[in-house]
Amino acid sequence: MMKSAISALLLAGVVRAAPASSTENTKVQPFSIPNLLNLIPRSFEINEKRKGWLYGTFPFGVAPYPYGKLADKVIAEQQSQWKPPVFELGGIIVQETQEAVEAVIAAGGFTSLDDYAKVYNNLWQTSLPDGPLPGMLTNHTDDRTFSMMRLSSVPYRLRRVQREDSLLFPVDEELSRSITGHSLEELHAQGRLFSEDFAEMKDQEATTAYGAGCQAYFYIDDAGDFLPLAIKLIVKGREDSALVYTPKDIKDEWLFAKMTINANDGWHSTWGHTTQSHSAAEAPYLAAIRSFSESHPVLAVMNRIENTPWGVRPNLEESLVNGTADTGPKYYPWAANAARTWANKVYSSGETSNFSSNYFRTSLRNRGLIDYKYGPALKSFPYYEDGAVLVDALTEVFTGFINAYYKSDKAVANDREIQAWLKETGPGQVHDFPKKIQTRKDIVEILTHQAYLGSVVHAIMSGNGNQLDIMALPFTSAGWQSPIPTKKGVITDILPWMPTPQGAAWQVATYAAGNRASWKDTNMTFAYMFDDESLQSRLNKEAKAATAKFQTDMFALSDKWRARGFDENGLDRGMPYIWNVLDPKWAIFWSVV
Ligand SMILES: *[C@@H]1O[C@H](CO)[C@@H](O)[C@H](O)[C@H]1NC(C)=O
Ligand SMILES: *[C@@H]1O[C@H](CO)[C@@H](O)[C@H](O)[C@H]1NC(C)=O
Ligand SMILES: *[C@@H]1O[C@H](CO)[C@@H](O)[C@H](O)[C@H]1NC(C)=O
Ligand SMILES: *[C@@H]1O[C@H](CO)[C@@H](O)[C@H](O)[C@H]1NC(C)=O
Ligand SMILES: [Fe+2]
Repeated sequence: MMKSAISALLLAGVVRAAPASSTENTKVQPFSIPNLLNLIPRSFEINEKRKGWLYGTFPFGVAPYPYGKLADKVIAEQQSQWKPPVFELGGIIVQETQEAVEAVIAAGGFTSLDDYAKVYNNLWQTSLPDGPLPGMLTNHTDDRTFSMMRLSSVPYRLRRVQREDSLLFPVDEELSRSITGHSLEELHAQGRLFSEDFAEMKDQEATTAYGAGCQAYFYIDDAGDFLPLAIKLIVKGREDSALVYTPKDIKDEWLFAKMTINANDGWHSTWGHTTQSHSAAEAPYLAAIRSFSESHPVLAVMNRIENTPWGVRPNLEESLVNGTADTGPKYYPWAANAARTWANKVYSSGETSNFSSNYFRTSLRNRGLIDYKYGPALKSFPYYEDGAVLVDALTEVFTGFINAYYKSDKAVANDREIQAWLKETGPGQVHDFPKKIQTRKDIVEILTHQAYLGSVVHAIMSGNGNQLDIMALPFTSAGWQSPIPTKKGVITDILPWMPTPQGAAWQVATYAAGNRASWKDTNMTFAYMFDDESLQSRLNKEAKAATAKFQTDMFALSDKWRARGFDENGLDRGMPYIWNVLDPKWAIFWSVV
C-alpha cells in the first residue's frame, strides 16, 4: 500500500521532472526550492540525473568531463549550437588571413615596428574590424602602456612584493637609484615594489621559435605612478648568465625585454584561461547538475550563465592537439603539448582552479594589490575599478535573486539540494570550494564568483582582451624568430626577431578566432546575462525584478564607459590606451570558446 503510493508519486514526479535537460514539460512550472511536497519527485529526478551525468576524464585533462546517457545527449545538442559559429568564423578567418598576407606584402612588408599596423589596416572586416584597442598601435613604446597593462589587461600574475616575500633577483643599487631614486630594498621596505614571475615557462617543450621565462619588477614612483623597473630574461640551459634589462638600456633592447615578457603574459592568458575561466567553473557546475533539480532556481541560473560549456575542451583538442591549428608552433616558442601540460600544472597547483581564493577581491588582496597595509594604494587600477563595478552588480542581482526564494538564512541552510551540492563538490573535484553554505550571503558569493569566471575573467583572458591588447601586434609577438641574445648591445633593430607577414597574419587570425567581434551589442553580452525567455518565464516576481534592474543598470553603465577617451595628456586613467574590454554591452556574458 505504502509502496504503491510512493510509486505513483514517483511517476508523477517523473512526468514533471524527467527532462534532465530541457523539455516542454518543465518550462511552464515556476522554479522552486525544495520542500517536503516535492521531496519524492525531485529525489527521483536527481537520482536519474546522477545516473546520466557521470564524472569522466578528457584528453585535455583538468576538471572532470561529463559522460553518460543524459550528458552525452546534452553535449551533442550543445555541439550543434557552438560548432556552427566556430566553423563559420573559421572559414571567414581563412579568407581574411589570405587577404591580410597579400595586403601586407603589397604594401611593402615590414621595415619597422610601426609597419605592423599594416596587418590590421582595413583588414579582418568580419573577425576583427576595429583592430587593437585605441592607442595600442601608436603608444606601445610608452613605458606606461607596458606597466598599466598589468593593472588592466593582464592582472593575474602581478603581485606586490610583500614584507615577508623575498626578492626575485637583484638589481644593481646605482642602477635602481638612477631609475627610481631608491634601491630595490628601499622600494620593498616601503611597499612600493611589485613583481611578475614566469620563470617556469623557460622549461617548456620548445619549438623552432624563441622565448624566455621572464621575471619583472614594477614600482610606484614618487608621484604615485606605476612603472616598470627591470626585466630578467631566463633561458633554459643558461640560467646563470640571464640578462636583466631596464629602461636605461638602448631603446630596442628594453622594448625587446618588455615584448618578451608580454609573450609570457599572453601565453598565461591564452592557455591559463582554459582552466581559470572554463574548467574552474565547469567543475562546480557539473557537481551542481548532479545535485539540484532542474526546477531549482540556483541551477536554472547556472544553466544560463554556463551556456554551452562542454564544447571548449573538444574544440581545443581538435584544433590544438589534433593539429588543425598546425601552424601555431612555428610562431609560439613552446609546443602544443607544452600548452596542455602547462594548463594542467596551473590547474592542479590551485592557481587557476581554486574557487574561494580566486574571488575577485580575495585574489587581489592576497596579492597585495588592494587593501595593503604596508604600502601605498595604486593610484589607478582599471581592472579593479571596472571589475568591482561588475562584481558588485552581480552581487546585487544575486542578492535580489536569492532573497526572492529564501526568506531567511536558515532556509538556505535547510535547502537539501544546496547542501547536497556542497558535499558533491568533493567527488566533483572542485578545488578550494567554500566549506559551508549556511547563509544567503554564502550562496550569493558563490553565484557571483561563478558568473564572474565566465564573464569578467573570460573577457579579460580570452574575449575582448587578449586579442586586442596583450596579443596584439606589434607590442607582443607570440614568439621570436631569432634567439634570445647572450649579451647586451646586440639589438639595435628588433625586426630580425619579428614575425614575417605570414606569421603576423597567423597571430591575428589565431586570436581573432577566439573573439566574437560581431557579438558586440547583442544579447550575448554581459548586460543580457539574465535575458533569456526560458529562464524569465519561470522566475518569480521578485527575481524578475532583480534581473530587470541589473539589465537597466548595465545599459546605463555601458553608455557611461563608452564616453571614455584620451585626456589632454593622451591618457585614459593613466593608460596610453583606451581599455574598455569589460563594457557590459561588449564583454560576452559566458565563457565562449
Ligand atoms: C583527436 O584525435 C584522436 C585520435 O585520432 C581521436 O580519438 C579524438 O576523437 C580526436 N578528438 C577530437 C576532439 O576530435
Ligand atoms: C588553493 O586553495 C588551498 C586551500 O583550499 C590552499 O591551501 C592553496 O594554497 C591554494 N593555492 C593557491 C595557489 O592559491
Ligand atoms: C538573442 O537575439 C537573437 C537575434 O536577435 C534572437 O534570435 C534570440 O532569440 C535572442 N536570444 C535570447 C536568449 O533572447
Ligand atoms: C596615444 O594614442 C592616441 C591616438 O592613438 C593619442 O591621441 C594619444 O596622445 C597617445 N597618448 C600618448 C601618451 O602618447
Ligand atoms: Fe574560452
